[in-house]
Order: sequence, then structure tokens, then C-alpha cells
Amino acid sequence: MCGIVGYVGKRRAAPLLYAGLKKLEYRGYDSAGIATLSSDMVWVKKVTGHVAGLRGAASLEGTCGIGHTRWATHGAPTEANAHPHVYGRFAIVHNGIIENFRSLRRMCEARGEEFSSETDSEVVAHLLERLYRGDLLDALRRTCSVLKGSYALAVICRDAPGAIALAREKSPLVIGRGKLGHFLASDIPALAPACGEICPLSDGEFALLTGEGVRLFTGEREIAPRWVPLARGEKETGKEGHAHYMEKEIAEIPAVLQRSRGGLGEGEAFSRVREAVIRADRIHIVACGTAYHAGLAAKYAIERLTRIPAEVTVASEYRYLDPILTDKTVLLAVSQSGETADTIAAARHAKERGARVVAIVNEIRSTLAALADERLPIGAGTEIAVAATKSYVAQLAVLYSLAASVAEAQGRRGYGDALAELPDLARETVRAGKAVAGWAAHFAAARSAYFIGRGADSVTALEGSLKLKEISYLPSEGYPAGELKHGTLALIEENTPVVAVLTSEELAEKTMNAVHEARARGAKVFLVTSLPAYADERGLTGSAVIPRCADVYSPALAVIPLQQLAYFVSLARGCDPDRPRNLAKSVTVE
Ligand code: F6R
Repeated sequence: MCGIVGYVGKRRAAPLLYAGLKKLEYRGYDSAGIATLSSDMVWVKKVTGHVAGLRGAASLEGTCGIGHTRWATHGAPTEANAHPHVYGRFAIVHNGIIENFRSLRRMCEARGEEFSSETDSEVVAHLLERLYRGDLLDALRRTCSVLKGSYALAVICRDAPGAIALAREKSPLVIGRGKLGHFLASDIPALAPACGEICPLSDGEFALLTGEGVRLFTGEREIAPRWVPLARGEKETGKEGHAHYMEKEIAEIPAVLQRSRGGLGEGEAFSRVREAVIRADRIHIVACGTAYHAGLAAKYAIERLTRIPAEVTVASEYRYLDPILTDKTVLLAVSQSGETADTIAAARHAKERGARVVAIVNEIRSTLAALADERLPIGAGTEIAVAATKSYVAQLAVLYSLAASVAEAQGRRGYGDALAELPDLARETVRAGKAVAGWAAHFAAARSAYFIGRGADSVTALEGSLKLKEISYLPSEGYPAGELKHGTLALIEENTPVVAVLTSEELAEKTMNAVHEARARGAKVFLVTSLPAYADERGLTGSAVIPRCADVYSPALAVIPLQQLAYFVSLARGCDPDRPRNLAKSVTVE
């Protein structure tokens, strides 16, 4: 979604802002812009499309400036709607949504002010100009006092050269300091490698950045900035020889599993969560998209291994179910970014009603992590490609560890050992999965595709389908294999690709029935299986044999060839697998 950068120091700001925006490209956006301050003037350049369009703006003068990548919510992706928005002496960039912008805009228009965009954000610049009494930060405080909704705001003012004012409410914003001066960004990766230390802002905080220092405030009260070093892993964002981040991140899965094996089950937070789960009357899991699929896969493991009831709900629907919550309910909120607005809202709802909220996150400094009672980091490292791959498997690793650890405490042994084998098996799977490259041509020419499986394999089918549609734009559905004949079979025609996932001996014959039903209607069927006996079945167009692991953990491996398939189909269809159209890496609006 939208991204913010800013810089104030001794260097020319524009090239640093441009470099910061390039780092934010992975978030997904459709227009971009920068504004700098020089000679008491605000200089602005905005473009639709790629940040590269701003390369020429790197010559803008000034050692203080702000920049933005916009993911359109209010108003089309046009130059006029792109940020920064300028009004009077102010230029602003904004992430989030100003919910009461219509009434505020009407009020400004009634005073004769003209707006140049359709955005909710522009009203902030108008309010700043109206409420300005000679002090930049004071104007920002007054403005924020009338805003409803969520915002990360960075503001520059013609009358305050060399200063940037910031405000945060439910949308992330981080300050960084380095040798060149002070930086700000909505995402930590944009601050690397220029900054050695960072200070994330909390809700309700304001800051004033100058070349000399940073002043931080909770409301009006000044507090000391909380500097923490920028960890090494947060700085590593290169492709390291891979053609795309997605390819690199899939290749990292074994190492991610290896790393998490060392850390899981040992920390104090993990022990506290395990005890809470042992005492729990039920587990609720909330998440969106791929993280939701991790929750679905975890339900199989938690219920089978621990016999504690687990319900999984798409986070955006959770509140409307009026969920039954007690002080013994444990809510697991699963999110790579920790900034997904729907997941945060669901977690807040559960917390307010007495549940114990556990954030299972990759970004440990995220809003969700701060809100939760407990945090379990998944340790996937920075994930740049919009499509979640390594973070999905890392989420599964944490959830499975929790289930195994509770099971062991309940006296059911052996599940931890099976988990310890996953890193090596994942290494083999990444190798074996490359066979699916040869399948891509069949998908590239198709009108739609289907993914089927039974039991935990049905979750892998859902995730494989999501990955494919996300980065190749091929309409696709994932189904429990048994459901195919209850409707979707009507869509199967000559050469329709169907991927069947088969990792459970117990369910194999039933899944193969669905394979034959699809074959009989002309489908090209591809099998991803850990049971070699089925790989040579007559009539299959392709098969990939992956290593065997405990059935209950199989989604962590079986998903890998499906991620690889989506990647190859994306390339075959001429798409950019790292930056799918219309999508954003973290979805910070409800
Ligand atoms: C799919 C994908 C999305 C995210 C979803 C939740 O590849 O990336 O479906 O999984 O937007 O994001 P997080 O995990 O950041 O809450």
C-alpha cells in the first residue's frame, strides 16, 4: 500500500528520497511523488506508474523533503491524486484513511478553498494552512485533533526550512538516524542501509525532525526517542543472484525453517503461550489471505494433536460473527506484516472482550505485535515479493511448533521430532519442485485452473490457487477434492489444468477419484504428491514427487511446488511475479 519516506540533513534530499521510494516499491503502488524545500519554496514532482519516472526529480534542490508511493483508495491513480499534496505553505504525504474527510472538505470548500485532487488526504494540507499560528508542530497537533481514521503524516512547511513534522495514528511510521542525517519511512527496509538506528513511532505520537536532532512527543509531552539498532537481517534486501525476489524467497524456505527450529519452543514468550493454550477453552485464529490459509492448516494440527477446538476466521469477518470469547480463549492473530488493518481490528475486538491475544508476526515492531499480549516472531526475514512464500511456511512452522509442544505437554510424544525433519525435507522439496517449470506452458494458454486436495491438502490447494491468480492473473479456484463434483466440475473442459495435491495415504484413493473425474472431462491433471506410487498413474499430464513428512505437517512442504508453479506461470504469461497489479504487500486499510 502507500509508502512514505523523508529526509533532512546536509545532503541533497531528492536523490535520497528517490532511493528510499525505490526500496518501497515492493509494497505495491500506482503513482509516486516527492517534495523538497529550498529557497523558501516547495518543489514538487509527481508521476503515475513507476517510481523510475521520478529519476529526473533527483535534481530538485533542497536538503529537506518528503516522498510517497500511492496505492489508490480515494480517486484514480492520476498525477493530481498522487502525493505530496500542497496547499499554501504546506506539503504533506499521508498513509491511512481520513474517515471524516468529506465533512472537513465541505467545510474548507465553504470557505472558498479549492481542492486539486479527489483524495481524502488533501484536506490535511488545507487544515494545516488554516490552523497555522507560526509553529509547524503546533499546526499538525491542531490538525490531527479534528481528524478521524488512521494516519501516518509527514509535513514540510515553507516557513520552517530544514524541519519535518510527523504524526502517527494506526499507521506505521519509523524515524531513522545515520551519518547523513535524519530519515523517516513507513517501512523499515526503506531506512536501510542509510540508518544505523531507528525509532518507531507509537499511536498518538508526534515528532519534529531537523538536521540536528529528533524531538518526540506523546501529545504535547516531550519524551526521549527510543533508538534501537537496525538489525542486520532488516538490511539485506538484495536479490542475491536470483531473477526475482519471489524466487529468492522460495529458495530461502529451508534456511528459514532451520533458523526457526533453533529458536522455537525455547523462549519465555513461547512457554507462556503454550501454557495459555493448554488452559484454553478454545483457540480462535484470525488472519487474511495467505496468513488465513496458514491458520486453516494450523487448525488441522492443533485439533489433531491437542484436541483443543480451533476456529479459523477471515479477519475482516471476525467482528460480525460476534464471536464467543471468554478469558480462557486464546486468539492467534497471524500476519506477516503485522500491519493488516482487518487482522488488527479483529485482535483488538478479542482483546477488549477478555481473550488473550497472541501475535504471530514477521515484523516484530508492528502495530499488531504492540497490541498483542504475547508475540511469537516467525523469523522469516524481510519478505519483498508481494506474494507471501517463505513467510507462509514460517507461520506454519511456528503454529506447528506450538501444537507439537502442547501435545508433548499433554503426553502425546513424537510430534516435535517430526517437525525437526522439515528443514532438510524442504531443501529436497525446493529441488524436486523445479520440475513444475515444464508445466507452465499448459497453464499459460489456459482460461482457468483448479487446485484440489483432501484434508490438509485442501488447504494447500487453496493457497496454490491464491498464489497462481495473484501473480499470473489466471482465474483459479482451490477446492476440497470431494467438492469438485458438487458444482465446479461443470467448468472443466478440454485441456483445463487441474492440480491435485496428495500427501496422505489414508485419503489417496478418494483424491484419485476426483483426479479421474476431472480427467474424464478432458482436464489436464498435474499431481503434487509425496506418494510415488501415484505419480505414474495413467492419464496424468505431469507429476512432481516431494518428500514424505507427517501428514499433519505436509502443507509446509506441498505448498513449495505450487509457489514455484505460480512463479513459472507468471513468467510464461509475461507478468512481474514480484509486483502483481493492484496488490499491496501490507494492507493497512479495512
Ligand atoms: C498473498 C498475500 C496476501 C497476504 C495478506 C495478509 O500472497 O501476500 O494474501 O497474506 O494480505 O497479509 P499479512 O500476512 O501481512 O497480514
